[in-house]
Amino acid sequence: MNMKRISAERAVQYIKDGMKVGLGTGSTAYWAIQKIGERVKEGLSIQAVATSKASERHAAELGIPLIPFSQIEHLDVTIDGADELDSHLQLIKGGGGALLREKIVAFHSHKLIIIADESKFVDKLGRFPLPVEVIPFAVEWTLHSLQQLGCRPQLRTDGEKLFVTDNGNYIADCQFGSIDSPTDLQKQISGIPGIVDHGLFIGLADVAVIGHSDGSVAIVERK
Ligand code: A5P
Repeated sequence: MNMKRISAERAVQYIKDGMKVGLGTGSTAYWAIQKIGERVKEGLSIQAVATSKASERHAAELGIPLIPFSQIEHLDVTIDGADELDSHLQLIKGGGGALLREKIVAFHSHKLIIIADESKFVDKLGRFPLPVEVIPFAVEWTLHSLQQLGCRPQLRTDGEKLFVTDNGNYIADCQFGSIDSPTDLQKQISGIPGIVDHGLFIGLADVAVIGHSDGSVAIVERK
């Protein structure tokens, strides 16, 4: 049973003719883009923006109409994955390194739908190391400041080299263990110079569509 695929395909049902749609990034969002591509071939009329170069290429290959950011003011809906989510729809994102573009797109979307398999749903965020996008300049100082918040930051690698985001920055994966207050933590992290953004998405997701191993799908709405 492909839990990622069933959650993605269910979420695509939210997309209607004429909508402006944000396309997420990652192996779950992949299935949403595939399904949107199928529906576009069947006549669905939408305009889309992507949260990464990879998703943009994927959408273009499937003939999904992509539109420059300058030509739209907001999105009706964005469908994206997550690395962890809790019952308040607080998220950790950025496992694929696209957190900054994902957050910009999520912020400007009327509805953010999160798609995930059941393994991503947790009582408390923090088992997944929090991805933080950092400017390469003086990166050692930035990592030191992150460490002082109580985590073990590790610069993400890609083979022998450091991983570089679509924006030319690095990702520090920060193992916090269990995060008691994601809201407080995001304020603390944002106060460190050199940090571009982080993978805590608080108050952004409206709906989660979670795929289960028995083939069922659960819909969780933000209270
Ligand atoms: C990309 O940067 C991420 O935020 C992804 O949405 C997240 O890592 C989930 O990815 P998967 O769907 O591949 O698990």
